[in-house]
Amino acid sequence: MTPDTKLDIILVGCGQMGRAMLSGWIKSDIIKSCHIVDPGIAEAPFDHDALKIHKDTSNIPKTTDVVVFAVKPQIMADVIPNYSGLMDSAVGISIAAGAPISLFEKTFGQNSQMIRVMPNTPAAIGEGITALYAKPAVSESARTIAEKLNVSLGPFLWCEQEDQMHHITALSGSGPAYVFYLIEAMAKAGEKLGLSPRDAMSLARQTVIGAAALVKSSPDKTAEDLRKAVTSPNGTTAAGLGVLMQTDDGLDDLMVKALKAASDRSKALAQE
Ligand SMILES: NC(=O)c1ccc[n+]([C@@H]2O[C@H](COP(=O)([O-])OP(=O)(O)OC[C@H]3O[C@@H](n4cnc5c(N)ncnc54)[C@H](OP(=O)(O)O)[C@@H]3O)[C@@H](O)[C@H]2O)c1
Repeated sequence: MTPDTKLDIILVGCGQMGRAMLSGWIKSDIIKSCHIVDPGIAEAPFDHDALKIHKDTSNIPKTTDVVVFAVKPQIMADVIPNYSGLMDSAVGISIAAGAPISLFEKTFGQNSQMIRVMPNTPAAIGEGITALYAKPAVSESARTIAEKLNVSLGPFLWCEQEDQMHHITALSGSGPAYVFYLIEAMAKAGEKLGLSPRDAMSLARQTVIGAAALVKSSPDKTAEDLRKAVTSPNGTTAAGLGVLMQTDDGLDDLMVKALKAASDRSKALAQE
């Protein structure tokens, strides 16, 4: 496969995450054809000649380069048998939280070229972070296809053990929602101190946008460096951080609890 090779893709499920990935594939111009199977959508979410919509699998192509499974984990086991005819030759990508490779192997066989991928929704604007996992037997060409699908979504990394996908899901898969909630919490706190709801939300929102942009534009500095640079001894920031950084029940403890809960939920989804 050359860097210019375009892909025939079947996208199964085009909700939040399917759409985010599709947007990245369109921007990076890697689609030869993309057949979207989703009973819930009537028209293509983006204006692009290569997109075709299907309510079910009755008219999808008989061969393809890659099938991307982007439905909820709870229905994955019911959905995958519809694609077994394709999976002798196609690469399979699953983005479902919790769903192990073994779930797909039960239907597609031990030799199927299945790759687990955990993206996140900033992928829609090329600012995602994606983790990939494949068994050692998965071919280099299958891995190249998975990378090609993910390179437009932001940086990616391969993880060594499938079990780590639970923790990655908890950190970066679910992480954008934690940051959105941080904005909400900062705005609510501002309101409690007496700011108007509108001002509090504008201030909280742009503060997170600006801080993230600063992290991005300072690759040689750690988050800790940036934090220390804006924290004068005995100043206002130090006073606020003193509460967030307290040893018991500070943000560190809360974050461990949050990630543990999300990781445990990912493990439970693997059993459902
Ligand atoms: N959202 C995230 O931040 C995120 C991050 C990383 C990974 N993921 C993973 O991505 C997957 C999708 O999550 P999501 O948030 O995008 O969910 P979602 O918005 O509910 O999207 C799932 C889509 O699949 C459709 N669907 C239902 N049954 C189907 C079928 N038989 N064939 C094809 N499509 C079908 C749904 O249609 P209806 O709505 O009509 O049922 C919906 O449009 C999940 O496995 C999740 O673990 C999500």
